[in-house]
Amino acid sequence: MTKKLFIKTYGCQMNVYDSARMADVLAPLGYVATPAPEDADMVILNTCHIREKATEKVFSELGRLREQRRDRKASGQDMIIAVAGCVAQAEGEEIMARAPYVDMVFGPQTYHALPEMVAQATRRTGGVLNTDFPLESKFDHLPEESAGQGVSAFLSVQEGCDKFCTFCVVPYTRGAEYSRTPEQILAEARRLVAGGAREITLLGQNVNAFHGQAADGTVWGLGRLIREMAGIAGLERIRYTTSHPRDMDDDLIAAHGEVPQLMPFLHLPVQSGSDRILAAMNRKHGADDYRRVVDRLRAARPDLALSSDFIVGFPGETDRDFADTLRLVTDIGYAQAYSFKYSARPGTPASGMDGQAPESAKSDRLAALQQLLNEQQIAFNRSTVGRTIPVLLDRRGKREGQLVGRSPHMQSVYLTAPDRLFGTVAEVCITDAFANSLTGGIVTGKHVHQPMERLSA
Ligand code: 5AD
Ligand code: SF4
Repeated sequence: MTKKLFIKTYGCQMNVYDSARMADVLAPLGYVATPAPEDADMVILNTCHIREKATEKVFSELGRLREQRRDRKASGQDMIIAVAGCVAQAEGEEIMARAPYVDMVFGPQTYHALPEMVAQATRRTGGVLNTDFPLESKFDHLPEESAGQGVSAFLSVQEGCDKFCTFCVVPYTRGAEYSRTPEQILAEARRLVAGGAREITLLGQNVNAFHGQAADGTVWGLGRLIREMAGIAGLERIRYTTSHPRDMDDDLIAAHGEVPQLMPFLHLPVQSGSDRILAAMNRKHGADDYRRVVDRLRAARPDLALSSDFIVGFPGETDRDFADTLRLVTDIGYAQAYSFKYSARPGTPASGMDGQAPESAKSDRLAALQQLLNEQQIAFNRSTVGRTIPVLLDRRGKREGQLVGRSPHMQSVYLTAPDRLFGTVAEVCITDAFANSLTGGIVTGKHVHQPMERLSA
């Protein structure tokens, strides 16, 4: 008998990947995806704890689900309500206490045990709480993926983090660094390509700390894994995210120059341009260390475009520290970047530090930083106008005849093109640039198709 499953995913790409794998684990139990929570026999909130009052968001969503379950019960149906992900890991006890109607609360390392948890929850012997960090890897117990992910796919190679940046919850919610084996990863990559993937993004909280041990005992770094993946026929593009500047080793840097499938775009978070703040953040690198890593990467791959994460208003950050951040941004020149106001996370060292900044100072700094980053992003996008670039057409647009793809530098490109080009890398002449996207036309011989006059994103 089929049952309906609704998973709501918050936060990072790792959660997107985890949600797909949870659906794989539940498929043999008869669960199929449904787009609406009110129709679902099971709802899983796959939560994020990195910033903001994420817990409160979860509780208000849970309140809504409780009412939807009441409606379903009135018509003789039921609903299992579950909270997964990093809020579950960090605040599991509190969820069970404040929302006792929740059936299952389980952390990111436990979802291979979902069938057992579902059996327990169905017996309704009270809620199930599972926030273990089991010694064996969940990856050893997960079934193979039941569905392909499409043209552009994610593959989790590494989880957890040992860096302990003082602002960050990840080492506590995701646990210690763990790498999957190269054999496991390559087999999954081949299945993804057989299922239609042309691009694979390797995922990990600290992906370039990857150190997978092969069956012959050798330990592979990310550079070796990428070189090996480049041998998979049909795989045209490889990316990886998210990296730590300290783990950019020589082999990985060299791979940027030597592996044509490795796309010339790198998300390499720096967080701050001030050595004083970087030290307080326990980042284990200074601003000049970061500049040097970027120089080496650009020496290997001159057209490499960069992205980063920044935190403004970290405890003790002065105007001078913030000016150092602006200077670093000016020196590096980013194609895009994410910036956040510092948010004190319970249990992290920085939450107890002196010099917590007022909200107004954080807002002012965020606005100034985002203005500079936006200017850089627009300038970068404009620099592509008039050029012909390879675009992987991985999505269908909202308009009739519209395809959407990604440039090598991760820019979204909107164009009109025949549907038979879907899933291929096409040569596209860029005709216009906006803050968050490009438009262009397919190049056939010397002829350029007319572009869309305006885009939808
Ligand atoms: N406050 C603000 N931003 C944070 N990040 C992580 N923890 C915090 C926090 N406590 C940001 C970092 C990280 C990104 C994923 O989220 O910039 O790189
Ligand atoms: Fe968090 Fe990234 Fe620092 Fe690890 S390296 S603690 S995931 S910010």
